[in-house]
This record gives sequence, C-alpha cells and structure tokens, in this order.
Amino acid sequence: MPRDGLQRVDGIFMISMPKGSTPNAALQAQKLTARAIRERGRAGLPIAMVTAYDFTMARLLDEAGVDILLVGDSLGMTIQGRTNTLGVTIEEICYHGRAVARAATRAHVVGDMPFMSYETSPEKAVESAGRLVKEGDFESVKLEGGLDVAEHIRRIARAGIPVMAHVGLTPQRVLALGGFRVQGRGHADADRIVADARAVEEAGAYAVVLEAVPPDVAARVTESVGIPTIGIGAGSACGGQVLVCTDLLGMSRGRVPRFVRQFAELGDAIVRAAEQFVAEVRSRAFPTAEQSYRPNESPEPKAAEGLDHATLATAGDESHRA
Ligand code: KIV
Repeated sequence: MPRDGLQRVDGIFMISMPKGSTPNAALQAQKLTARAIRERGRAGLPIAMVTAYDFTMARLLDEAGVDILLVGDSLGMTIQGRTNTLGVTIEEICYHGRAVARAATRAHVVGDMPFMSYETSPEKAVESAGRLVKEGDFESVKLEGGLDVAEHIRRIARAGIPVMAHVGLTPQRVLALGGFRVQGRGHADADRIVADARAVEEAGAYAVVLEAVPPDVAARVTESVGIPTIGIGAGSACGGQVLVCTDLLGMSRGRVPRFVRQFAELGDAIVRAAEQFVAEVRSRAFPTAEQSYRPNESPEPKAAEGLDHATLATAGDESHRA
C-alpha cells in the first residue's frame, strides 16, 4: 500500500499534490531515469521528447511535462547556423548540457555523441560517453547507427552509462547518404532498419530514435523490439515522438520538414515584439517611469552610483530584476 502522501504513477511512487494542482506539477516530483523511460515504453505510455539547448527553454519544457530533453547535435544547425551537424564538438554538447541539466527537475536529460566522438572504436565510444556524463551532466547518451555500433553501445552500457540509439536516417552520415533522405524504402532497406533496431536493443540500448522512415516500417520496428521507439518523421505507431524545439515552437524560418507540426508561432511573435521594441525606442515611448528607478529626491551624494548589476540584484525595491 502507498504510504500517506504518496501515489503510484507508472509503477513509481510519487508525492501526492494538493487539490487544484496540475497533473504536470504532480509529475514534477519524480526525476525520470533511463530505466523509468524504458518502463514507460513497456507500459505503453507515450514518451514526449524535445530538444533543448539552454536553461530558459529547458525550464519551460520541463514545466510542460516533457519526458526527455535531448541536447541534440542539431544545435549545430539551430544554434550555430551550420548546414549540418558534423562540426559539433563534445565541448559544445557539454556546455549546453550543463545549462539544460540545471533546469530539468523531472525530465531525463540525454546528450548526443557528436560525429567522430565514437565511430573509430568501442574504447573511444566509452571515453566520449564518460566525458558527456562527467563534463556535461548528462543522465544518458545517444549515438547514431545500428549493427555497426552495437559493440560500442554494449561497452558504454557496461560502463554504467545508459544509451539511447538512433536508426533510420542518421544525419551524421549525411555526406555518405547524399542528403537528408527518407530511409527504409524497399524490402531490403526496411529489413536493414529492423535488424539495426534489434541489434541496438540486444546490445543494451534503453530506447531507440527512429528517424525519417515510412510509417509501416516504423510499425514493424516497434513490434520487433522490446524497448521504446521514439519517432521523428516515422508516423504514429512509435512508442514516443521527438521534435526539435525550434520546429515545434514555430521559430524556424523557411521550409520545415514534412513531419514537423508547429504547435505555436513563436518566430512571428518574436519578430512582432522586437519590431515594437525598435519602434518604441525610436519614438522614445520606452522606457516610461514604470520601467525606471526612483529618481533621487535630494541632491545628497549618490550612494547608489557605481553599483554594479550584481549589487542591484540584491537591493530590495531598487532590485535589478524586481
Ligand atoms: O540532434 C537531434 O536533435 C536529434 C533529434 C532530431 C532526434 O538527433
């Protein structure tokens, strides 16, 4: 029987929340581990994963009840403006990882292993995964590939680091693939993806991302493995779904991939807000007295002059961010 104040959610005991609090708030009580993610998959509970690269975004996504925050190497494109992910380094993934980890009260935080941080040997893979955990504060790592990286996954998992795999379209192979193309067209290629997913499960992966494959292939893969499949451009049969945060929020400019649904139009909202700011600076409508500190009432020596931002932040009603 659950103890007083505890309730069982997804087989895990959680703190009961006061009446009126939201279900998401109740879920905040429990940090999701890789093991819990795997159990959610087994229980048929859909898994929601979103990329995050900084503290502010991660905090909002965590508050929304997102299950997994992925510091993806997609940051090479979304944050750095590159045309692919190949130039991203371990140091960069770790820098963003530390910021995201500070915000995640419930969400599990996964770090992408960048291109050439694991391919050359299982030993190199263990070493790089270890760096992600030690220097990036990650709770698990993700790497791309199937049969060809099964031994790498086995060795990382044996070292005590949970691994998420990634099959189907593997963007780190963009040069060899000749572009970001749908995978699993034709029987042989579909069979290859099923074999890849089985291999990563057998090697010890706790979940597998399935990218850009037809929905029938994704359904076959999902039925063939006991770990959750997390789809992106893989239809609705997967155990969960992942989107890049800037796509989900409508912040990407230009054409977005067919599989993206923009759940908000933040890109347009940001442009409108910034246009308004520019106009009000130019017309001197901003700032008003409301956004200004209290004027000096007497011509006494100005004690506050010379205060730096850190001092102002702790200065009561003169607080920098009151
Ligand atoms: O890097 C990334 O954001 C990813 C997701 C698209 C799954 O790998």
